[in-house]
Amino acid sequence: MAKITISLFEVKEKWQKELLQQRLPAASFSLRFSPHKTSPSNLRQHSDAQALSIFIHCRIDKAALTRLPQLKFITTNSTGFDHIDLAETRQRGIVVSNVPYYGENTVAEHAFALILALSRKIVQSANRTRQGRFNLKGLRGFDLKGKTIGIVGTGHIGEHAVRIATGFEMKILAYDPFPKPELMKRYHVRYVGLEKVLSNADVLTLHAPYNKKTHHLINRGNIRLMKPGSILVNTARGGLVETAALLVALRSGRLAGVGLDVLEEEGIISEDKKLISSYLEREKLSVALQDHQLLAEENAIITPHNAFNSQEAVLRITQTTIENFQAWAKGKPINVVG
Ligand code: NAI
Repeated sequence: MAKITISLFEVKEKWQKELLQQRLPAASFSLRFSPHKTSPSNLRQHSDAQALSIFIHCRIDKAALTRLPQLKFITTNSTGFDHIDLAETRQRGIVVSNVPYYGENTVAEHAFALILALSRKIVQSANRTRQGRFNLKGLRGFDLKGKTIGIVGTGHIGEHAVRIATGFEMKILAYDPFPKPELMKRYHVRYVGLEKVLSNADVLTLHAPYNKKTHHLINRGNIRLMKPGSILVNTARGGLVETAALLVALRSGRLAGVGLDVLEEEGIISEDKKLISSYLEREKLSVALQDHQLLAEENAIITPHNAFNSQEAVLRITQTTIENFQAWAKGKPINVVG
């Protein structure tokens, strides 16, 4: 039987490469590794790829797919798949799989790392002592116990956020089009409308997927409803929040702090030279500049899309990617999206 040619992007670690080589043996698979994300120029060298392994920084749109005429299968090492044009893959008969359950606790734990960093001013405190200063001026935080947390999206990750918030003895309000009765029963979660969540939460954490319907779910119109002095944490996708609204809310003191693992145009701001690219749409450029302004705000803690990045989760991701390839090669794809 002919070997299946697979191109694997953003594989940077030796152990990962070895595990993939071991579980996708050379007798059946021809593996080609790249530590980089996909780009119009490097995809040219992969025109014979029948399958791809990618991560969130690889944008698979119509132009990319045109460069991959042999492609039959894509597996993304992520839960989110908004970096793949699913309408286009569907039209071309390309199967797409994701990693649905690698680390629900992992991302929820990172959300709480951001919440605690904000509520106890950990970054400012650590910076101060690093400078040899030990006074407490301006470092008073607030307790989580007894406060209300608003959880938007109670899927796999949101459910773990519910569980952790219960440990802190917080009151839990949630918004999700598909409420889970078991969370109401076990953790006393109260499902209410989004506006009610916004106007009652001391801490808001977002765990909804990004799509056309959730684009700017938090925006100029409804961010005004948030309690003065509340904090907002986003570990889901940048596009859920209108960046300009976030800046205004932070600067006016409506929000006491924001913790973001994701930014609206993070792909652009991670490559500064692209900021001057003439190809960039004006709107994207404007958002990227607002992202830069956010980075400079003292009350904004921003991590570089790192919420998934625990030892345990990365191992689970690699294992699921291998299973996705094996299942697809046998003609029975699993974890299919779109
Ligand atoms: P999931 O699919 O299990 O849960 C999403 C939940 O959001 C579902 O309960 C769904 O009903 C709900 N939802 C859908 N539309 C909504 C809306 N308009 N308002 C409120 N809730 C809505 O997904 P999971 O595993 O919990 O992941 C959530 C998101 O977290 C992913 O879509 C992904 O973008 C992001 N993520 C970020 C990571 C990071 O490293 N920062 C890592 C993994 C996931």
